[in-house]
Amino acid sequence: MASSAAPERGRNIDLEGAYRAAEERFTAANPGSLAQYERACESLPGGNTRTGMYYAPYPLAMARGEGAYMWDLDGHRYRDYAGDFSAGLYGHSNATVHAAVREVLADGVTFGSASAHEAKLAALVCARLPSIERVRFCNSGTEANIMALVTANAVTGRDKIMVFEGAYHGGTLSFPPGGSPINVPFDFVLAPYNDIAGTNALFDEHGDSLSAVLVETMQGAGGCIPGDADFLALVRERATRHGAILVFDEVMTSRLGPNGRQGALGIIPDMTTLGKYVGGGMTAGAFGGRADIMAHYDPRQKGHFVHHGTFNNNVLTLAGGAAGLERVYTPKAATALTESGEAFRQRLNALGQKHGLPFQAAGYGSLMNVHFVAGEIRSHHDLAGRNLTALDLFHLEMIAAGIYITRRGYMALSLAVSEDDHDYFVSAADQFLGTYGELISA
Ligand SMILES: Cc1ncc(COP(=O)(O)O)c(C=O)c1O
Repeated sequence: MASSAAPERGRNIDLEGAYRAAEERFTAANPGSLAQYERACESLPGGNTRTGMYYAPYPLAMARGEGAYMWDLDGHRYRDYAGDFSAGLYGHSNATVHAAVREVLADGVTFGSASAHEAKLAALVCARLPSIERVRFCNSGTEANIMALVTANAVTGRDKIMVFEGAYHGGTLSFPPGGSPINVPFDFVLAPYNDIAGTNALFDEHGDSLSAVLVETMQGAGGCIPGDADFLALVRERATRHGAILVFDEVMTSRLGPNGRQGALGIIPDMTTLGKYVGGGMTAGAFGGRADIMAHYDPRQKGHFVHHGTFNNNVLTLAGGAAGLERVYTPKAATALTESGEAFRQRLNALGQKHGLPFQAAGYGSLMNVHFVAGEIRSHHDLAGRNLTALDLFHLEMIAAGIYITRRGYMALSLAVSEDDHDYFVSAADQFLGTYGELISA
């Protein structure tokens, strides 16, 4: 690893000092990204239009990507382990997806009419996700979740929505430990994730006024914390008992097996929301579910719900998404990526044990999050004591080693990342833990 020189006595003797030294090396190595960042600050608040892209001292600006790799403005090459927060499932410039997009691009893109493309992607989605009998497209995972919730409110005539502590369902549906001032103003009931007794108590209190229960089968942005099967089964059973619509947010997790996480668990919600990779890497969102619920959107029916959306059927997303699901991320490919991701995650966990350090990769399959914390992680409470300075340092040192991960330690493996890349990553992480282990455990 280029920059992980042993910490110098008297200079970066503690973890904070080691982090500051890593920032100095980062700044020296990335003048092109710095200049870009300074330009961006003149017209964007903090140079930023997507909060997760920011990290100190300033974010790298990428210039191009190919397969498993990306190159920044200073010409450095990175193995891409962030996978655009799971939207980049196909890797950069996947030939099949690109060919499909180029083909429709040549025919013009904004028809303002129906086309053959929406039905094709819709059929593929319905065939994959057991809960989705009918689907509608929109433009983001956030929008998909908002649509699912307003659908549930309109169908049930109720307006209370159960969500879970630590959940992330979009920029305006975010439930981190301190809350969010920019959430949509729904009447939320905040329940404890993976806590059957606590969730049962809230169902006892609010069950009959709930329109929807919205839950991730694995909390993604919350740290890649898988939902226990018996917890999710309990949520399913109680939602049914109270007549609330159960919505699984599978925006991230639908990639974790041929039939989404719901298929693997055998727990089928009433509605499911999708996004990220489902548009082949382009702007995407979808909400779907039981035919009787989705029938409210049938414009032939009297009193149907009106759901417009200029770009709901944009042909680039639909064609790219369909090519990806039909020819690249086949059920077989989904199983293989989940298995290889799980093996990689176990190798990272073995490093924590080898070095006797509080280092682990939580998650499942191709989605995982590195945490510097000891013990089992079953909810955001278990992350309260994590060492964030160690994580920030890990992030900058992985970048210095040519590995691009997110600042919060989240990783989404693409189909382009190889076993050789995994070997390289494991060796870089091993070296990091060897170099900084004493400071981390101090
Ligand atoms: C589980 C989950 N739901 C919803 C969203 C929001 O999707 P989008 O960023 O497309 O609005 C995300 C995004 O990270 C997500 O992880």
